[in-house]
Amino acid sequence: MDFVNVLDIGGDGIAEVVDLAAKLKADPSSVAGTRSGMRVGLFFEKPSTRTRVSCEVGTAELGAQPIVLKNDEVGLGTREAPQDVARVLERYLDVLAFRVFDHRNLELMAEHAAAPVINLLSDLEHPCQALADLLTVAEHRPLRGASIAYVGDGNNVAHSLMLAASSVGASVTVAAPPGYEPNEAVVEQARAGAIGGAEITISNDPASAVAGVDAVYTDVWTSMGSERETEERRSLFVPFRVTEELFERAGPDAIFMHCLPAHRGEEVTDGVMEHSRSRVFDQAENRLHAFKAILLHLTA
Ligand code: CP
Ligand code: NVA
Repeated sequence: MDFVNVLDIGGDGIAEVVDLAAKLKADPSSVAGTRSGMRVGLFFEKPSTRTRVSCEVGTAELGAQPIVLKNDEVGLGTREAPQDVARVLERYLDVLAFRVFDHRNLELMAEHAAAPVINLLSDLEHPCQALADLLTVAEHRPLRGASIAYVGDGNNVAHSLMLAASSVGASVTVAAPPGYEPNEAVVEQARAGAIGGAEITISNDPASAVAGVDAVYTDVWTSMGSERETEERRSLFVPFRVTEELFERAGPDAIFMHCLPAHRGEEVTDGVMEHSRSRVFDQAENRLHAFKAILLHLTA
């Protein structure tokens, strides 16, 4: 089984992994060393702090060995076709966890290798992030019936969040500037996979999107690889900044979430980042527990 798209493990799988991640957080020693001898390849075509470190530490905590591959040495799709890279690496490694620009490269790897392929972020999805996001919401209130407003760019993080949340019964409203809404096919997939009356709503109005919700979520206005668009995006996205005033429109005990890294003063103010109900650093910690849980799930 792969984890290239968050729904690869199904809604039940997502619920199980989030549950397991919560258990591992409460008692990390319960699984220490249980994957001794396993080798996990980690590869990054783009920069990373949380993913790189949480994956290395999580792998080691399970007793497995992380092997970090060098982007310029592998040359995914330039030096060697992704499917060949995958077929070679699975002769040495048990799990292939890759961060890539082009989602298609992950699909090619998954199609050609029997070893589990894990998406550590692509242009289309960030499924490991979504697991940590759901764990963070679950620490606040039950997922079924929860409401999340995602304000900003309809990007990879928004896609995986919509797909994962709706599959466990949580509603997501995305408020994005016109032209920056999430991919329509992903929106339809999230709606099709929704359970328990969860709704996916796409809007261009941040104030109404956040009204009364349980969690307000944002991400950078310009994702890695799109830096050329930074200036043209900035003016369009200013009305989508999560300010204290916008955050106050959410439910009285709503939490603030951000996958990080944050650009303070752009998509979110310092005041919201440092708010007593900001959960961004718990969310970052949860990447570790979620990665261990998905590794256990895929290699059971
Ligand atoms: N949230 C996240 O994926 O962070 P990194 O890019 O630092 O890994
Ligand atoms: N949407 C961001 C997430 C970074 C973790 C990006 O792709 O750059």
